[in-house]
Amino acid sequence: MSTPQRVKICEVGPRDGLQNENVTVPADVKVRYIDLLSESGLQMIEATSFVSPKAIPQLADSAEVFRAIQKRPGVRYVVLCPNLRGLERAREAGADSIAVFTAASETFTKRNINMTIDESLRVFGKVIHEARAGGMWVRGYISTAFGCPYEGVVPIERVVQVTNALFELGCDEISIGDTIGVGVPTQVDALIPRLAQSVPLDRIALHFHDTRGTALANVHAALQHGVAIFDSSAGGLGGCPYAPGASGNLGTEDLLYMLHGMEIETGVDLANVRAASRFIAGALNHAPTSKTFLALEASSASTA
Ligand code: HMG
Ligand code: MG
Repeated sequence: MSTPQRVKICEVGPRDGLQNENVTVPADVKVRYIDLLSESGLQMIEATSFVSPKAIPQLADSAEVFRAIQKRPGVRYVVLCPNLRGLERAREAGADSIAVFTAASETFTKRNINMTIDESLRVFGKVIHEARAGGMWVRGYISTAFGCPYEGVVPIERVVQVTNALFELGCDEISIGDTIGVGVPTQVDALIPRLAQSVPLDRIALHFHDTRGTALANVHAALQHGVAIFDSSAGGLGGCPYAPGASGNLGTEDLLYMLHGMEIETGVDLANVRAASRFIAGALNHAPTSKTFLALEASSASTA
């Protein structure tokens, strides 16, 4: 399997990033952040979530935000839907692409969406069916694929089972999540060939959190197996409130720096992503964690 020449990036900062901030960013600031990201050449941006506002108060303004963002042609704006109610709200706001989300471990699934994995597959079966009947594009997430904050080791067979189930339910793309950033490249080496037996590789995305600094090593391993879709967040914002210790997603700037250095195309302009990170940092109470972002900021400060 040769390394892909082109990679698609799913930018998750506005959703996975902002859902985990302890300040709630005003809707107009979220809109500007997403509009800035849209200018960078990204093909896919996860804009927000239509989940219970009690579960994620930070994204309670999802309808207002989704309606207000500029929908740039060629960019897919994805929103998370945990149930039929979420799908209805997403539709009303004008979304045409959704993501459903379950996990490979029971305790996390229960804490995150208050369902067993089987229940979640039943609920998402209906959501996916309705969404596709209405012409929507559907992404499926499998969290805790490399380890669970409550159960520890997660068997590969469980990840494969849940992936197959979501794929059979009709997902267009499946994103395999290292929710708490515990994965290492040998796990990627073991998992991807197993998944590729039942799901076409061009439908598999990987979603790494960089909690222990292994995200780029994992991306590199996945590239060797031909995976060509990766999730990341501008500035490295991110986490999951139901996954203790799930700090930031892999930073989009870090991913771009490595891919471009390897002469792998993304169509994404790093400077524009950096501008979006700089903008959103002004609304948060901490600096972005992306190493490339920080290095570029430091070098432009020293030459200013
Ligand atoms: P529940 O409490 O079992 O369900 O929550 P419920 O039906 O009893 O609803 C509770 C309340 O929420 C009710 O309101 C519902 O009406 C309302 P009340 O009567 O108490 O006033 N409600 C809703 N409101 C708006 N939109 C909806 C909706 N549904 C119910 N769609 C539920 C179950 C699934 C709703 C809840 O647990 C939930 O919303 N969970 C979402 C949690 C979440 O968003 N987690 C983060 C995303 S996953 C992630 O980050 C991982 C990922 O990045 C990949 C990785 O890193 O691995 C994707
Ligand atoms: Mg995540």
